[in-house]
Amino acid sequence: MSHIVNLRGGGVAFVLDLSGPTPVVVHWGADLGDRGHPGIVSNPVPNSSLATGAKQELLPQASSGWRGRPALEGHRRNGTAFSPLLVTSQSRTLAGGGHEITMTDPEVAIEVVIEVRLSDEGMLRLRSTVANRGDSDYSLLALTTPVPTGLGAAEVLDLTGRWCREQHPQRQPLRQGTWLREFRHGRTGHDSSLFTAVGSTGFGNRAGSVWATHFGFSGNHSTYVELTPSGSAMIGNTELFSPGEMTLTPGESYTAPWTYAVHSASGLDGVTQTFHRWLRSRSSHPRSPRPVVLNTWEAVYFNHDLASLKELAHSAEKLGVERFVLDDGWFAHRRDDTAGLGDWYVDTDVWPAGLTTIISDVRARGMQFGLWVEPEMVNEDSDLIRAHPDWISGPGHGRTPLPWRNQQVIDLVNPEAWDHIFSRLDALLSENDISYLKWDQNRDLVEMGHAGSSSAHDQTLAAYRLIDAVRRAHPSVEIESCSSGGARVDLGILERTDRVWASDCNDALERHTIQRWTEAVLPPELVGTHIGPSTAHTTARTHSLSFRAIVALFGHFGIEWDVGNLDDEDFAELAQAVALYKAHRGLIHSGTAVHADLTDPAHTLNGSIAADGSEALFAFVSVATSVAELPGRVGFPGLDPEADYAVTVIFPTQSSPYRSIENVGWIPGGIIASGVFLTEVGLPMPILNPESAVLIHLVRA
Ligand code: GLA
Repeated sequence: MSHIVNLRGGGVAFVLDLSGPTPVVVHWGADLGDRGHPGIVSNPVPNSSLATGAKQELLPQASSGWRGRPALEGHRRNGTAFSPLLVTSQSRTLAGGGHEITMTDPEVAIEVVIEVRLSDEGMLRLRSTVANRGDSDYSLLALTTPVPTGLGAAEVLDLTGRWCREQHPQRQPLRQGTWLREFRHGRTGHDSSLFTAVGSTGFGNRAGSVWATHFGFSGNHSTYVELTPSGSAMIGNTELFSPGEMTLTPGESYTAPWTYAVHSASGLDGVTQTFHRWLRSRSSHPRSPRPVVLNTWEAVYFNHDLASLKELAHSAEKLGVERFVLDDGWFAHRRDDTAGLGDWYVDTDVWPAGLTTIISDVRARGMQFGLWVEPEMVNEDSDLIRAHPDWISGPGHGRTPLPWRNQQVIDLVNPEAWDHIFSRLDALLSENDISYLKWDQNRDLVEMGHAGSSSAHDQTLAAYRLIDAVRRAHPSVEIESCSSGGARVDLGILERTDRVWASDCNDALERHTIQRWTEAVLPPELVGTHIGPSTAHTTARTHSLSFRAIVALFGHFGIEWDVGNLDDEDFAELAQAVALYKAHRGLIHSGTAVHADLTDPAHTLNGSIAADGSEALFAFVSVATSVAELPGRVGFPGLDPEADYAVTVIFPTQSSPYRSIENVGWIPGGIIASGVFLTEVGLPMPILNPESAVLIHLVRA
């Protein structure tokens, strides 16, 4: 008798056939309703092959005919137990939309429990736990729960990057073989991809079938897309272990991080909508209006001088800033990046009266106070390491890993080191009125070891435990995940933090791409976006204030610029941008994110549309010079076709981004048009200077 499990939610279905000895995935894609499923229809058995036809196993293993990457890899001593035959021993429905399947092989005494959940938003989540039920150690090499793609899968899209250029797309045809990305950074990694997607030919922002996954983990990991001659493409995400790292003693188990999987029949925006809706449904999702930030880093760097910081706070207050964040440079010996990490005591040379002076000044101006910390790191030039040289994580034999920005990793697997760091953070937060931590992590964790054995996995979990403990002790303190910009952006870290710093690059042109792809997964309220100085410190490109502001508006907005010395014009335009953000953050942080498919690569149009379609905010951005004289008509996606909208450019109004003898007819006066007209026919767009933008507001008329 066939035993079909049909999980449905958010227009998506994940269908399993549990009739046979091993669970088989029948379908992951559009919700087909609850009518009778034929279950798995067997494939032909070709000549020169194993005796059974290929099946889409939930847990692909050689013993049931899978010749690609196995889901479970491991062995006992002398290489025994290398190929289990795991069969379903139990299955049960989980409360809240899910199913749990237990597979066991009594001969090799290994058990795997697979948890599959499908949310109301269409978010599919999978994770497996492997348990050693035998009486000898089991060396685990890899555990994956890959997901299959569906009809028409033809192209692979994922993201890559480096410091100051995170989350850039790369695309290629799907071919037989394995597209494998490995991230051995001990942190998520600058080049780590927020998603791995397979889609139909030419899938775009608004059209095409897409199957995308994300791995919710901040340590070593790999992602792959595999197409074998006998199967449809699979996408897998795996934690990477160092040699000997994951030995399960009798009775021990390992649970893999969550794989998040989203199917969309309407292009990448469909993927984004599911991620955003699901993330917004979490009870821990920040609900209060995301405050305007002023971060001191690009304003003063290590130059902590009370008088200038007070002046900065004064300007911030006048601009409408709501949260003042004191970045690196406040603690003992930290006059530059060569010393001090680990010495989490206020530097009394620079701050003779402690941080209270600046904190009370900031608080008196009605702003929250935030502080930068980098708790997982140490400088060898620190009192902490002079007292505890053995607290540096490394390969053993007294050797330390190569330095990176003059720093090393503190061995948080050592309970004494962990306790010490926790108690310093706890003291800082107890003794000072701090409502926000910018929690930084500024190096790759290579050769992580504790007591001579590899500890990358344990170090990642110890860092998670540290953040969790700080949160428990100080539940009202918000935490930002920063890692030399965006090297720790994933849903594992976001289970315990309130926003990420997407990149150290505040150049608006670079940021526009970085944010577009970061926000393909993360809703804008979770992504820190700051207006930097006129000439970007990381690229030396100069951009207008309006362009920098429009790019920064589509995120958790802030300023990272020495605003104490602005001329009146800049000050007024910056204050206008702050006011605009405050007026529209409700929409940007709750709306549906949309991205038009434009044929001219010189332009982009992205927006946020209110859930009820009553309002929308779009950025029309010129990212380069165009081959065309005119940008032509551009359609506004996602509007309510039935509604009439009043359309106006609301920013910039004090400076001009335009380059024409005469502007388009609807600027500056605005125009009223129906949603269907605006989407299907579109409006002629203004000619903009390259690397500039306009902000377009649509309100139901
Ligand atoms: C990292 C962060 C920056 C800044 C510096 C301070 O590079 O990404 O934003 O905080 O550290 O040292």
